[in-house]
Amino acid sequence: MNTLYFNANNDFIPTCSDIIRAGGLVAFPTETVYGLGANGLDGNAVNGIFKAKGRPNDNPLILHIADKEMLYSLWESVPDTALKLIDAFWPGPLTLIYKKSARVPSEVTASLDTVAVRMPKHDVALKLIEEAGVPVAAPSANMSSRPSPTSFEHVLHDMDGKINAIIDGGKCACGVESTVLSLVGTPTILRPGAITPAMIESVIGKVEIASAVLSPLKCDEKVLSPGLKYKHYAPDAEVIIASGSPKEASEKIKALFYEYTSSGKKCIIFSTLSSFPFYEDLPCVTIGDSSNPISMCANLFSLLREHGSKYDCILTEAIESTDEGLAYMNRLLRASGFKVI
Ligand code: TXA
Ligand code: MG
Repeated sequence: MNTLYFNANNDFIPTCSDIIRAGGLVAFPTETVYGLGANGLDGNAVNGIFKAKGRPNDNPLILHIADKEMLYSLWESVPDTALKLIDAFWPGPLTLIYKKSARVPSEVTASLDTVAVRMPKHDVALKLIEEAGVPVAAPSANMSSRPSPTSFEHVLHDMDGKINAIIDGGKCACGVESTVLSLVGTPTILRPGAITPAMIESVIGKVEIASAVLSPLKCDEKVLSPGLKYKHYAPDAEVIIASGSPKEASEKIKALFYEYTSSGKKCIIFSTLSSFPFYEDLPCVTIGDSSNPISMCANLFSLLREHGSKYDCILTEAIESTDEGLAYMNRLLRASGFKVI
């Protein structure tokens, strides 16, 4: 397939919204990561997403909308908690899950009776959805299990030749996928993001956090969000996380670095800004300031892409898994396959 490229300043709207309406696939920027969009009311178009990404088809998609009214046709009803959260956080990186209406095809929801919806905070995404006139089903625009794309180049690498068009909107401002919150029963965070548990609790009161957010699913555990089952964000290299204080973690990393290197493995260290001096002249890149974990997520995705195929092993530190750190540690643990020393 010949993929068309647009930049956000070009007149991408007519062609790209036509492609969506006609059942094709368009990758577009959002404030979180790039999405791979198709007409969310067309089951065949949605199947095309799963095929292009190599995504297991029991992992449901998020419908993206540009106008709050659209929600009323996608959900059975709109609970008060949702209205409060929408007022506080939409457009923005919060995805809400509730009981679906009959209008939503089963391809979108992987046959679940709920559907995830969000309104992205990005002009290109909003214009595309508005002009297409349909909800746009979109997972992150990476090959399944690979790090999420936070730039046009990442999307091009994974999707060129597999989809109809890519819109270049530069780097994603947020750089980590949206917070996913289920409003069925007790509100439960299924995936942490830039909208933190405390921010949500300040609007609707206590929320739960799915246990699989920071640990592997146990065999007998009920799968709240199918996405939690799968290996994610994984580069070719082995990723190992060192726990403890920055000093302790850096000692563990250095010891493992020497052990691995002496057995012929090529290793690189991803360091936080403040730990950088601990590593002296070892091969090391900075992943960001641990006081800003959301910006570390975006760097994590692009550094995993850049170094993941060049090294046998990536060694990095754990940070506090509270507030925004929850989103970072969720992505890092999945990238490592939960390998913590
Ligand atoms: O920021 C984002 O959310 C990006 C941009 C493109 O909007 N999209 C994104 O989509 O990250 P995706 O498909 O990569 O992740 C959606 C997550 C998956 O973990 C999926 O299992 C979960 O949401 N999900 C979707 N619908 C669900 C449902 N009905 N019940 C439970 N989990 C659901
Ligand atoms: Mg994804």
